[in-house]
Amino acid sequence: MDTVLITGGTGHLGRDVVAALKSRYRVRVLARSRGQDPDVEWIKGDLATGAGVQDSVSGAQIVIHAATLSPAARRGYLLPTDFWRSPPQVDVDGTRRLLEEARKAGVAHFAYISIVGVDRSRIPYMLVKHAAEELVRAGGVPWSVLRATQFHWLADRMLGKASRMPLLAVPGALVTHPVDSRDFAAYVADRVQEGPGGDCETFGGPEVLELRDLVRQWQQARGRKFRVLNVPAPARLRRAARDMTAPNGRLGDTTWSDWLRTHQPE
Ligand SMILES: NC(=O)c1ccc[n+]([C@@H]2O[C@H](COP(=O)([O-])OP(=O)(O)OC[C@H]3O[C@@H](n4cnc5c(N)ncnc54)[C@H](OP(=O)(O)O)[C@@H]3O)[C@@H](O)[C@H]2O)c1
Repeated sequence: MDTVLITGGTGHLGRDVVAALKSRYRVRVLARSRGQDPDVEWIKGDLATGAGVQDSVSGAQIVIHAATLSPAARRGYLLPTDFWRSPPQVDVDGTRRLLEEARKAGVAHFAYISIVGVDRSRIPYMLVKHAAEELVRAGGVPWSVLRATQFHWLADRMLGKASRMPLLAVPGALVTHPVDSRDFAAYVADRVQEGPGGDCETFGGPEVLELRDLVRQWQQARGRKFRVLNVPAPARLRRAARDMTAPNGRLGDTTWSDWLRTHQPE
């Protein structure tokens, strides 16, 4: 059985990837704090400092790099600073470190998890992800880049925070393409088994929704009745939102409303 190292294995997608791969590989996770799963080999480390990185790749044939640091995703809402800069320590510096150690250790496949539209966006977090993709392409280790659209958990977290306000301004005509991280994890697991695939087919959910529908379905599912003010969206913003959808790529089965029915708010 090959050993697969998963970074970010304690995160939303990472947990799903671990679950999808446990029966097929020896699964190892590099994490800042050890998880509980006894079927996983836990390596304590930190991509931002490099601690544990060398140990984590030693003897691994495959690396799935799903760790990330998005301050906006962590807090569940955007601040003006999110439009100026995004910390590069994990996504860029950490990717560089991990790649270097993977190359030295002779890793056969480095799979990088990314986001649809990073090459067309000017949002700092997306630029950081795109820079990491470019490192992977040039890193000297056979690679795959696997891009997904926006995960359901993040939309749920953001709407949960936004709903504390009495009134939410929504550029309702913007499109969004939410996806279940578990559906994507199954796709990642399959692609990893096929070996390095370069830039792989994108992955999205089964439907592209207008933002107003996403919010309406969330309100119904969560029973939250704040007022929604529909505001117009400039053409540039509408284009930017469309660039983050991928209706022509591979699609999962789980709709936003299915997901809301089966997941409690975090
Ligand atoms: N969220 C989305 O909508 C979305 C959509 C498409 C693609 N993606 C991509 O999918 C991947 C996973 O995203 P996610 O939503 O599952 O993120 P997440 O839940 O925020 O998980 C991030 C993971 O990265 C780890 N991490 C953060 N800083 C670290 C460090 N210094 N050293 C080691 N590990 C560190 C976290 O560990 P701790 O628990 O220790 O913090 C956590 O396990 C990312 O590449 C992301 O860009 C996300």
